[in-house]
Amino acid sequence: MAEFSLPQDSVVGVGKTWYDAHNIKHNNDKHYKRVKIYRYNPDANKNPVMDEFVVDLQECGPMVLDLLLKIKNEIDSTLTFRRSCREGICGSCAMNINGVNTLACTKNIDTNGDIMEIYPLPHLPVIKDLVPDLNHLYAQLASVEPWLKTETKLPTTSENLQSPDDRKKLDGLYECILCFCCSTSCPSYWWNGDSYLGPSILLQAYRFINDSRDENTGERLDDLEDPFKLYRCHTIMNCTKACPKGLNPAKAIAEIKQLIIKRQV
Ligand code: SF4
Ligand code: SF4
Ligand code: FES
Repeated sequence: MAEFSLPQDSVVGVGKTWYDAHNIKHNNDKHYKRVKIYRYNPDANKNPVMDEFVVDLQECGPMVLDLLLKIKNEIDSTLTFRRSCREGICGSCAMNINGVNTLACTKNIDTNGDIMEIYPLPHLPVIKDLVPDLNHLYAQLASVEPWLKTETKLPTTSENLQSPDDRKKLDGLYECILCFCCSTSCPSYWWNGDSYLGPSILLQAYRFINDSRDENTGERLDDLEDPFKLYRCHTIMNCTKACPKGLNPAKAIAEIKQLIIKRQV
């Protein structure tokens, strides 16, 4: 029988409990939220731990990002996470909240009294605390050349126009904010992420394949016609369920596969 063992530093230990300045006596009060957060410091040479924070919600905004900012500003300034726009546009605050990949800035804090758990996006190397290493995903994005490629000489004094109907074909694609909630929810990407491009990158690839102004469709499809880059998708649909922008990467992948079949018949 095969035996598997996890690397020693994958075991997550119990960390410390932190209270904000006012709540030491009241931490069972419904105004206080208990949140466990994954902590990992590569310089400490120790396993990651889950620290618990008890935070006064009466002095906190309604979103999970507000809670994280309050902890960083008032309790532990070393807590590390990415954020920028705080309105669901930049994709940088993606993390796993209560088992679901989502954006901290658009996710409400549950006030049901349960302990909230926050981890970085799963199955990626962690740089520190809630910050995953996205270098591999960005290299995969660059590999699909996510920009318009044209052979025809473009007008120099006017825009490169497309019809309203052609523009409509980009709906459901151009809105992607590259948060990678989908790719890190995809079991195929977990196991084959070195060679499978995953839902976020394939949706980006389809955004340019589907653009009437792009003149590189054949080469783009040639590049994707590969048992690993594209065909590791088994239509499990976790990606579509996870997308905080309501997009459907699984459909984009299916449409790329259809285009490849159509050009063969
Ligand atoms: S549909 Fe494809 S890309 Fe989406 S989660 Fe399933 S295997 Fe991954
Ligand atoms: S498809 Fe959705 S979940 Fe995936 S990267 Fe784009 S916005 Fe994020
Ligand atoms: S901070 Fe930009 S999407 Fe959350």
